Order: sequence, then C-alpha cells, then structure tokens
Amino acid sequence: MKAILLAGGKGTRLRPLTIHTPKPIVPIFNRPFLHYQLDLLKQVPEIDEVVLSLNYQPRRIEEIFGDGSERGLGIRYVVEPAPLGTAGAVRYAGESLRQSVVVFNGDVLTEVDLAAVIRLHRERRAKATIVLTPVASPAAYGLVETDAQGNIQRFLEKPNADEITCDTINAGIYVLEPDTFDRIPKDMPWSIERSFFPSLIERGETFIAYIYRGYWIDIGTPDKYMQVHRDIMDGRYKAGPFTGGPTAAQVSPLAKLDEGAIIEGPCFIDEGVVVKAGARIGPYSVVGHQCHVEEHALIEGSIVWANSRISQEAIVRRSIVGRHCHIGRSALVEDGVVLGDKSVVTDYSRL
Ligand code: GDD
Ligand code: MG
Repeated sequence: MKAILLAGGKGTRLRPLTIHTPKPIVPIFNRPFLHYQLDLLKQVPEIDEVVLSLNYQPRRIEEIFGDGSERGLGIRYVVEPAPLGTAGAVRYAGESLRQSVVVFNGDVLTEVDLAAVIRLHRERRAKATIVLTPVASPAAYGLVETDAQGNIQRFLEKPNADEITCDTINAGIYVLEPDTFDRIPKDMPWSIERSFFPSLIERGETFIAYIYRGYWIDIGTPDKYMQVHRDIMDGRYKAGPFTGGPTAAQVSPLAKLDEGAIIEGPCFIDEGVVVKAGARIGPYSVVGHQCHVEEHALIEGSIVWANSRISQEAIVRRSIVGRHCHIGRSALVEDGVVLGDKSVVTDYSRL
C-alpha cells in the first residue's frame, strides 16, 4: 500500500521561517518535521512506499530523506511543475495507483491508529474515509458534519463564525480509492477540500468519518509551531528527544554550559551550544545547535534555530529566532516575534 504525503505548500503562515526552510523540514527540536510523520507511517507494515508530493524547494527535502532505505521505508518524490492544489497533487502523484491509498497533509502531527482507519475504510467499502478530530476553533480548518452512522454530510472549508455547526474538523488524513481520481481535472489547481470532497457528497458515495480524539496538531502557524514543542516537552505527545516523558532539561552532552549558567527545564539544548556564566535558559526553550548564549542573556519560552547568537544581557521571550541570527547586547525580543534567518537585532533594540 502507498501513502501520499502532501508537502508542496509554500508555508506562507510560517514565514519568514519557511523562506529558506520549507515547512515539511522545519526542525522540531533537532529533527526535520517529516521524520515524525514518517515514523507514524512506518508503524503500518502494509505501507511499503511513501510518495512525497512536492513543489516548493523540493531539492532541500530530497537531500534530507533520500530514498528512505535508512529507515526501511521506500520514499519516492513527485514534483509538480506548478502547484496543483491538494486534489491536483493527489491525482498527479497517484496517477498509476490501482489500490486504496493513504493521503496525509504534510504538516500534521498525530498518534492516530492508521491501521484502524484503513480497516474501517475496508469494512465499510468506502470510496473515501477521512479522519476527523474535535478542535476548539474550527474556523481555521475544514469543518465536517456527519450523521449518526459516521457518513459525511457536509464539508465546509474555513467556515465563517456563523457557519460553525459542530466541532469536528478534517484532520488532513484520508484513505481514498484511486478510481475516483479521474474526476480531478488534470494540469490545473484543484482542491480536495473545496471541490473533491463536496463532489463525493453530491454523488451520494460512501464517504465516511473516523473520529479521533487523541493528540493532533497542524504545525503551520508560529503559535502552533511553538505549541508542538511545548506539547512534546510536557509529554502530551511522546517523541524524541523527550520519549521518556517530561524531564527537567534535555542537554546534549556536546553542549558547553559554563559554571554559573542557569538551566530551567523543561527545555532542549542541542549539541555545540555554548551558554555563558549568568545566562539563563528558562522553561519551554529550545536552543539549536551551535548557538551562543552570552553572559546574562535570557531565553525563555522561545525557539532559537541553529547558529544564532544571543549577546550579553539580551532577552528573548515567547518568540522564534531563525538560523544565523544575531541578537545584540541588551536587546529585547518578546511576545510573538518571529525572526527570519540571518536577522540582526542591534544592541539595545526592542522588538
Ligand atoms: N503538493 C502540493 N501541492 N501540496 C500542497 C499544495 C499543492 O499545491 N497545497 C497545499 N499542499 C500541502 C501543504 O504543504 C500541506 O502539507 C497540506 O497540503 C495542507 O495544506 P495547508 O495549506 O497546510 O492547509 P490548511 O492547514 O490551511 O488546511 C488543510 O489542513 C487542515 C488540517 O490541518 C485542509 O485540509 C483542512 O480541511 C484541514 O482541516
Ligand atoms: Mg496546514
């Protein structure tokens, strides 16, 4: 069985982070995001090949995952000539498929039991099965109404506030029958959410829901990107480097903490990081490899990508700092700032 990972979006809501790092490979701690999804797909022995459907900066992604042999999972890359939308991408990547296929949005992290989803799809002989999950604010997602038997009644992408009738949304995980793909127009953008799914409902096909109430997140905005780190540090989602549950601090043995540096967990300090005396790494911080945190600097509730420097007495709070950034002396960066790679914040600046 094949799985198609939709990973071709531009990641606009995560800009400027995604200018040089496409969303599928933004780091979660020290691993590119797709590693976590591939781990989940690998748990289903039936899935023997993952097709990565790419468009934006595909080479960067191919370089990281190669042919998948290292992880015992075949990986193939399909690069669209131009973005084809979520349905167009499925048709383009699934052209030669004859059997049911698993489709996954390339930006969701979850513990859903995929094998159980596939089983339900087969038992009900469905044309399409989609995983639904309850969320507090459905407006940012695809709202999906079902009947008591789990048949999909209505699919409404990004509903207005007055259109919200339930809390179940499309989790971005599907099992589809390829004999429906010829309805997706070729070579033009087509949306699975706005066009393909509503068409299944109109035709009265067996289109069913698998309701999932466990951990689920779409990492596609700065807030959610920070949230996923907090969730892993708190043990709400079990993943490396915090697999043993929440721990005080995960500090690489290859980091260099000076005497008098203060580390307060939960936090993650990667290899090659230098933390000078009097500097403080506070709870829910992630400090990427080779970062330098100078004397009396403070990082708290923030994610700092690799090779950045936080100078003396600078403060970084509840913010995200890209790679190779320079935060000057006594600068203040706080409350939702997102700095792209190579940003320079001059001494004493306040953001
Ligand atoms: N190959 C390819 N080509 N992939 C694409 C394209 C495209 O043209 N457009 C988007 N993608 C990929 C993105 O990279 C992402 O992994 C996935 O498709 C979904 O796109 P997003 O842009 O992240 O959509 P969203 O988060 O606003 O909404 C979608 O996901 C929600 C769940 O997170 C929808 O499927 C919603 O219905 C759903 O609730
Ligand atoms: Mg998304």
